[in-house]
Amino acid sequence: MSAELVLAIETSCDETAVALADLTGRPVASRIASQVKLHAPYGGVVPELASRNHSLDLRPLLESVLSEANASSQDICLVAATSGPGLASSLLVGDTLGKALAVGLGCPFYSINHLEGHLLSPFLQPARKISPHLALIVSGGHTLLIDCRGVGDYRLLGTTKDDAAGEAFDKVGKLLGLPYPGGPEISKRAEGGNRTAFSFPRSMLQSGDFDFSFSGLKTSARYTLDRLGGPLSDDIVADFCASFEEAIVDVLSKKLLDACIATGHRLAAVSGGVSCNRRLRERILSDGNSAGVEILVADPAYSTDNAAMIAFAAASRHAAGLSPSPLDRDINPNLRLA
Ligand code: KG4
Ligand code: ZN
Repeated sequence: MSAELVLAIETSCDETAVALADLTGRPVASRIASQVKLHAPYGGVVPELASRNHSLDLRPLLESVLSEANASSQDICLVAATSGPGLASSLLVGDTLGKALAVGLGCPFYSINHLEGHLLSPFLQPARKISPHLALIVSGGHTLLIDCRGVGDYRLLGTTKDDAAGEAFDKVGKLLGLPYPGGPEISKRAEGGNRTAFSFPRSMLQSGDFDFSFSGLKTSARYTLDRLGGPLSDDIVADFCASFEEAIVDVLSKKLLDACIATGHRLAAVSGGVSCNRRLRERILSDGNSAGVEILVADPAYSTDNAAMIAFAAASRHAAGLSPSPLDRDINPNLRLA
């Protein structure tokens, strides 16, 4: 094999991930070592535990993607690593290894914004040419509406004023005593529940801008649980979860389509961990259909944190003629996309 593989490393939070892709960004091998179980007893991510485990997990992951691709380090022609946003100590591990490998292999190095990885991921699988669109990124740390005019050309339209959508799921999951992270747990329990059983606020639905706020919803969920007392039957939990989920989905879907109308985009792409949510996918697809907006949602395999999306972003930047990053570019825990 000639040297034509992109190697990408993602260590922005608690998942250690390594991927190999071809120069068009299509995944050749992608592995994730999840630390969810390690952090679960603490109800959230413990930064030092995360970075120590990134250090331990990266080498075996690197060896396993090379073996799966039947490739050696000599087949790598470009190296990429996530440089932010995220936890500083976690980002440093992947960024430092990526730079060291790029120097050792004599390859260009691309520092990739984790959010750009999410933003472009709906175009990864099934493969689709990246074209101008409206992007909704919904993850544990971010809720962003972005006007994407091309690779590297992003304009921020709206963001959350307080909690991110995933954070609201996780905090309410904790109030319910569910395992961390709460998002997938709430979504599982919401199935079969009555979405109108509880009335939760839809903050900023009529605000006329593209910003979000989820802290009022979280507070309302807490008051509702206090009022209900406990222990709660499975049916009540299902109704509570379905009603809570519906409040988030209503706001995300309406703001996304309002932003499409305002910008004239007829294509929207939804990404980030929360885009795994079944009800969100279902609603955005049907609301998009009614509004004449084509919707792409990231494949669930590439929705939560992974390195294939980082490889795809790096290959897309390379293909668009955007320069590699200087090796003295630092990580940035607060890196912005636009
Ligand atoms: O993108 P991601 O893996 O990490 C960040 O960059 O933050 O997103 C993680 C977030 C968590 O808040 C998690 O609860 C949420 O995605 N999540 C979900 C679902 N699966 C993951 N939220 C709601 N429903 C789901 N099915
Ligand atoms: Zn993420």
